[in-house]
Amino acid sequence: MHFRALAKDRLPAPIFHYMDGGAEDEWSLANNTDAFDRYEFLTEVLNDVAEVDLTTRLMGIDLALPFFLSPTGMTRLFHHKKELAVARAAHRAGTMYSLSTLGTSTIEDVAAANPGPNLFQVYLFKDRGIVRDWVARAKESGFKALALTVDLAAHGNRERDIHTGMVMPPRWSLGSLASFAAHPHWSLNYLLHPDFRIANVRPGDDTLDKAGAMSLLQYVGEQFDHHLNWKDAEWLAGEWGGPLLLKGVTSPEDAERARDAGATGLMLSNHGGRQLDGAAAPVDCIRPIRDRVGDALTLIADGGIRRGTHILKALALGADACSVGRAYLYALSAAGEAGVDHMFAVLRKELQLAMALLGVTKVADIGERHIRRVGH
Ligand SMILES: Cc1cc2nc3c(=O)[nH]c(=O)nc-3n(C[C@H](O)[C@H](O)[C@H](O)COP(=O)(O)O)c2cc1C
Repeated sequence: MHFRALAKDRLPAPIFHYMDGGAEDEWSLANNTDAFDRYEFLTEVLNDVAEVDLTTRLMGIDLALPFFLSPTGMTRLFHHKKELAVARAAHRAGTMYSLSTLGTSTIEDVAAANPGPNLFQVYLFKDRGIVRDWVARAKESGFKALALTVDLAAHGNRERDIHTGMVMPPRWSLGSLASFAAHPHWSLNYLLHPDFRIANVRPGDDTLDKAGAMSLLQYVGEQFDHHLNWKDAEWLAGEWGGPLLLKGVTSPEDAERARDAGATGLMLSNHGGRQLDGAAAPVDCIRPIRDRVGDALTLIADGGIRRGTHILKALALGADACSVGRAYLYALSAAGEAGVDHMFAVLRKELQLAMALLGVTKVADIGERHIRRVGH
């Protein structure tokens, strides 16, 4: 897809690199996609593949595609129609949208834009009252699942953001001024639609007023609970009572702990290479975790997916579905809502073709026999 190049063209450098970049040397970022090249397909022929069916059932939810959209914060940075444009496109594609804790649209507005299915991603704030508020509102708005992100025990060292002077919300600093000035379309748009806010965080009291000059973003930063542990995951599973994915698990041992804590599934993920540089690629984690937990957990492969063949490889290795982050952010930045529609069309077409050439017509029929490591 050419969306990345278009996005790079359209966005001021600090914004593009905030999206595109990863932690430190960006080994994990690159490896998330490169790792797919270490697997090869074993095709089956003469199977009558005239009708390829991409539908699947995930966590009791019927989806038209075996992939959905990962949660990404601050979507307003990339397009003024923000999360709502992406959620509408997901609805048209018949798949799930995930709204981030750090989203710039409310749970209720996303539910209105996309009647479902939707997922809400939780960063556990120190103020558990806020988390309870999210859980109640997600239930009321018909959200089908929660994902608790567990790979942000500390903020990853994203050096591109330091180099570009990326600050949140974007401000005109001497260093970034040239880049904002060189993208007047984005900059004007940003100034004319100034609804940049972490929309779902509404402290129950007058915390922000009491703190005087404390901005909402500062407040959010201070709310990240670095004491997070397995008891907290259990607590959230109890509060929610529905499908709960732990997002950011990569080891079989943690997969077992997650199951014991009440999670119903995992998003195998290293946060798109934005946290621990050197963390394993999600695609390499599927088989060991599937072997360890069997069918006890729903497994989603999240990271590095840019092609239909990547999705097919993840499914063959044992994932129930995949999710994509940057693929839709590039598309949104490049061409707005129509861009996200186009991304779905491209990935759908690539996956359909790859399944036909592999010799399968149904998602459930994709299996271990279809894949092996290169040089096995
Ligand atoms: C700009 C950006 C913002 C993100 N924000 C969040 C977030 O708020 N919560 C979260 O759990 N993951 C977040 N992620 C990680 C994604 O959910 C996902 O794990 C990652 O993008 C997958 O890798 P991919 O971009 O290669 O598909 C973010 C990723 C990007 C690129």
